[in-house]
Amino acid sequence: MQERVPVLANQKMSLLHTQKDGRDELHFSLPSILPRLPQENSSVETESPMESTAEEHGSDEALSNDRKPTEVTCKPTDVTLSWENVNVYAPETRNGFEHGFRRHILKDGCRSPSREASGRESARSFISIFCVFQVSGTVRPGELLAIMGSSGAGKTTLLDVLTFRTSSRLTTTGVVRLNGVSVGGDTLAALSAYVTQDDVFFSTLTVREHLQFQARPPPFRVATPRDVGLIFAHSHQAMVRMGRELGTEEKMHRVEEVIAELGLVKCADSLIGTPGNGISGGERRRLAFASEIVTNPAVLFCDEPTSGLDSHAASTVMGVLRALAGGGKTVVATVHQPSSQVFALFHRLLLLADGRVAFLGDTDSATQFFHDKGFVCPENYNPADFYISVLSVVPGEEDDGRARVRHLCDSFEKVQRVLGQREPPFVSPLEKKMIANALAGASPYRVGVTTQFRALLWRSTLAVVREPLIVKVRLLETLVSSRVSPTRNSRLARPGHPRRHLQLVALIQGLMFMGQRLDAEGVLNISGALFLLVANMTFQNAFAVVSVFCAEYPIFEREQQAGLYRVPVYFVSRSLAELPLFVLLPIVFTLPTYFLIGLQRSASKFFVALAVNILVSNAACSFGYMISCVSSNMHMGLAVGPAVIVPFMLLGGYYLNDGSVPQGLIWLKYLSWFLYGNEALAINQWEDVDFVDCHGFNATCPGDGPAVLRMFNFDKVIYLR
Ligand SMILES: Nc1ncnc2c1ncn2[C@@H]1O[C@H](COP(=O)(O)OP(=O)(O)OP(=O)(O)O)[C@@H](O)[C@H]1O
Ligand SMILES: [Mg+2]
Repeated sequence: MQERVPVLANQKMSLLHTQKDGRDELHFSLPSILPRLPQENSSVETESPMESTAEEHGSDEALSNDRKPTEVTCKPTDVTLSWENVNVYAPETRNGFEHGFRRHILKDGCRSPSREASGRESARSFISIFCVFQVSGTVRPGELLAIMGSSGAGKTTLLDVLTFRTSSRLTTTGVVRLNGVSVGGDTLAALSAYVTQDDVFFSTLTVREHLQFQARPPPFRVATPRDVGLIFAHSHQAMVRMGRELGTEEKMHRVEEVIAELGLVKCADSLIGTPGNGISGGERRRLAFASEIVTNPAVLFCDEPTSGLDSHAASTVMGVLRALAGGGKTVVATVHQPSSQVFALFHRLLLLADGRVAFLGDTDSATQFFHDKGFVCPENYNPADFYISVLSVVPGEEDDGRARVRHLCDSFEKVQRVLGQREPPFVSPLEKKMIANALAGASPYRVGVTTQFRALLWRSTLAVVREPLIVKVRLLETLVSSRVSPTRNSRLARPGHPRRHLQLVALIQGLMFMGQRLDAEGVLNISGALFLLVANMTFQNAFAVVSVFCAEYPIFEREQQAGLYRVPVYFVSRSLAELPLFVLLPIVFTLPTYFLIGLQRSASKFFVALAVNILVSNAACSFGYMISCVSSNMHMGLAVGPAVIVPFMLLGGYYLNDGSVPQGLIWLKYLSWFLYGNEALAINQWEDVDFVDCHGFNATCPGDGPAVLRMFNFDKVIYLR
């Protein structure tokens, strides 16, 4: 027997009453929040909070009676998003920042939180400048909420708070709830998607490939580099975003649907490229939007989804948002200057002015509110333009403007409960606990580690293979001197990417040190050459990584925040994809230099030296990743990197004898890959040399190889350390 008992009518939750082995069983269930295909057209009930509360009380009773749930399956589909008393502030010195309106807020309305924290006021104390002040609101499933306001009003900041992405420089207070349950960033990431204002993509992928992110790799087979794309051709890049419960074909179908919905058919197989050297700005915007809606998320946040689009494309994008809301999603979007046509698509409106709420409610009520306050929207005038102009502070009329904005915000505070602010949905304590338990288990990752790994390996491999120029440049950089201009679509063509001045590094070094003999001078020259090998491996690879990875970092960061994959999976897959390059380059470098210098002519010695160089080059890559992660951009990375490398280089055993390292810095030498590399190469070279020609040199000349090692304080016993 099965019987559905409504619990929250406005949230489509239900209790499934079943009988098993003569026992009553209740299953608390909500339809899956995980991606649904768009043919769903569920309408959303919009009962008033009072009506639903009465019903909820009734069902709560039913729940707490003798029907105790024996199994709980809670998958909230219809998500009500609410936020309360959200404040975002940035600390500024009292004398350092003048911001009339927000300072007034502090004087009139509240104490500076930082002062509260310090518990005292002083002339030099910090005051806090609010970016967003006391903002509360609710959006229900089936609603499209537009956040509007002039530039700097706090739209992006509010959206960042709601998605837990606020900059660490800002302090945030307040609470974000899903279906009445306070949530954190991971839970929200699992249920939502965020289209940011910036479009950052892998330039080497096509639009279709970007939207595909892994499903079903075919059996592995050996392939040419050109074939690498085909290896994964059936795996389709999409879907680290989409859950396991959808099959590959459904996922691919969804990708094609989104491509068609957003008018990306024409450029589906074009490389995304870089701004100005790839798909158009509007297409990039639509692609950013498509990347997020491909998953049919329960909650969708969009920051300026229409910026840079023409009016037709903007209407298309907003139409898609409205349709998503119509399908039961909860949609929040900041919009700068919507046309009347786009404005008519919004269900609800949140007007921000100088970080405060000037209005929150149905779009129809907005006209009435402004009318009541003496601001009448002229007929045939775009209401959006009207509200923005009323809430703007025009240069030259700052005092009037701020007074007007403050008057409206204060007035709205008074009528807020009547017009805009609705109570979050009532959820009984037991239901709350059940939802909290379900949400607590919600992982931001939609697919397993293996799928993440395959998708990332595919993408990274494609990036390496599709950019042979980078490989060529680095090979040339290793061998030949010339000046290479990046091609149009290359990642090297990114704005701000330095052009490579290629040098005869390997050949110059080989020729400079050519034909060394085993005498006192030769010992010093060979030792210098060995150290230079390690230094070249380091500088080439570490800074190549910094220049490429820093440009990719914004994509990595965005995908991390969206919970697409785990950091170790990203690192391992990326390193694996680049491994052939980091093996090939040391080979190309070591081959000429080793034999030109005249190092030990034995195959085993050569291969040991090669292995050491490969390890050094990979250690340098990891160092490059570390520098990229701590630098805010490529320029900073390229500036910080050398400064950090120098101490490791000095402790490499060449400039400063290993036995002379100051006591306090001894720990640092164990982190120096220069030392490990240099020492290993030196031991490889000198350990079995039994004669050094010291004829005509003074007594300090080492007579054999072990004496050379002792001179540098290198010890063969710790060769493998
Ligand atoms: N990290 C930060 N540090 C200090 N102030 C900040 C920071 N981020 C934002 N602000 C300030 O908060 C206010 C709101 O910025 P926000 O980016 O939210 O505006 P916006 O409404 O999205 O504007 P736009 O329409 O131009 O995108 C601005 O005055 C901005 O200078
Ligand atoms: Mg913004």
